[in-house]
Amino acid sequence: MTKQHQHWGSRLTFIMAATGSAVGLGNIWKFPYMVGESGGAAFVLVYLLCIAAIGMPVLVAEWMLGRRGQKNPIDTMRGLARDNGRSPAWTLLGISAVLVGAVILSFYSVIGGWSLYYTVQAGAGRFAGQDADAIAGLFNQMLASPSLLLLAHTVFMLATVAIVARGLKGGIEASVRLLMPTLAALIVILLGYAATTGHFGAALSYMFAFNFNSISGDVVLAAMGQAFFTLSVGAGVMIAYGSYLGKDTNLLATARTVILFDTVFALAAGMIIFPIVFANGLETSEGPGLIFITLPLAFADMFGGTVIGLLFFVLLSFAALTSSISLLEPVAEFLTERSKMGRPRATIAAGVVIWALGIAALLSFNVWSAPLPGVGLTVFDLLDKVTSQYMLPLNGLFAVIFVGWVLNRQSVLDELGLSGTTALLWSVLSRLIAPLGVAVVFVAGLL
Ligand code: PFF
Ligand code: NA
Repeated sequence: MTKQHQHWGSRLTFIMAATGSAVGLGNIWKFPYMVGESGGAAFVLVYLLCIAAIGMPVLVAEWMLGRRGQKNPIDTMRGLARDNGRSPAWTLLGISAVLVGAVILSFYSVIGGWSLYYTVQAGAGRFAGQDADAIAGLFNQMLASPSLLLLAHTVFMLATVAIVARGLKGGIEASVRLLMPTLAALIVILLGYAATTGHFGAALSYMFAFNFNSISGDVVLAAMGQAFFTLSVGAGVMIAYGSYLGKDTNLLATARTVILFDTVFALAAGMIIFPIVFANGLETSEGPGLIFITLPLAFADMFGGTVIGLLFFVLLSFAALTSSISLLEPVAEFLTERSKMGRPRATIAAGVVIWALGIAALLSFNVWSAPLPGVGLTVFDLLDKVTSQYMLPLNGLFAVIFVGWVLNRQSVLDELGLSGTTALLWSVLSRLIAPLGVAVVFVAGLL
């Protein structure tokens, strides 16, 4: 079979798809509450360092692997290991990446469901005129209802499967072409609004006034995990998206664009949310409920709150959807290429398994809310922590090691169009700084 692998319609579509994958719940839901739990600016600084020194080379490495493989992440790693005379054990990297992506999707979809539910609540004007207790009550009632969470999770998974089942062109490309410009418009409107509501300065200093004492091993580990999560690296997603690239795409320039958008979205989310937290005397350390409790409270008594609230939760849902489709793609690509099922059936099969795992995650908020014995975490927290803090960095580490140390060095430099100083810079980054960075953070986190 020498049928050519399909490719993105254009460079812009690839940028939109990759940005759509990167920008998601990680930026708008997770980043603000992690900043809040980890004490503000110290977390932000380590996060930005990890993005630049580790996330960027890993992102480029994954795209390069995918583009060279022109197959799903598992067969990409198998083929590249063979072609470079290395052990087939490298295939494990592909397997691990695809599995981690599937596990992330299982709990990601639960939060995607929360976003959908809150979109409906906002649209129905349910926040208007409510006080803090009523708003908190709405959130807690949602969490307490397994059937409601299941319904929301199911709808979100259905939407994800429906898009991915249509394939690269009719599904992923068509949806990001529609959703990404909408997302850009929404964030600009909301940021403009936040800038007019006071406490913007307090939020700025909270996020950027660096204090050395608040850095700890835990903060560093969490910040690195978030850097991987937010860029969608370590989960097979960028390898899969890279497999649809042709030779002409400039990987470094594209990485710069995607990372810029992702970082802007995360910082903007903080700049939208913290002013509201401070204006209402709320706690920054609210945890996963942060945006679902603080923001509706602000929408409750602001002028035009129903419309702004609706826009916000539409933004959140769209952002989540363009990420969830990317999380399903590696498994769908693998099953499509390796079985006789065909893409629609392969996507549905993967979706059903992931959906079922998501049920365990959503029960963590009610019937299984007691921490697992011996682990001290709920299923949800366990899945989240193990994937972001350990599996993504580990997979990313091996991806960048493969590109830095296994692939022919000159061919990599040629592919990236580098020579002289920039070539040296890339080599130092991909061969030393990124791998050592991950190792140092692991050691620091364990100590
Ligand atoms: N990057 C997405 C976000 O920030 O919401 C989440 C994500 C997508 C993580 C894809 C991992 C992944 F492979
Ligand atoms: Na992100």
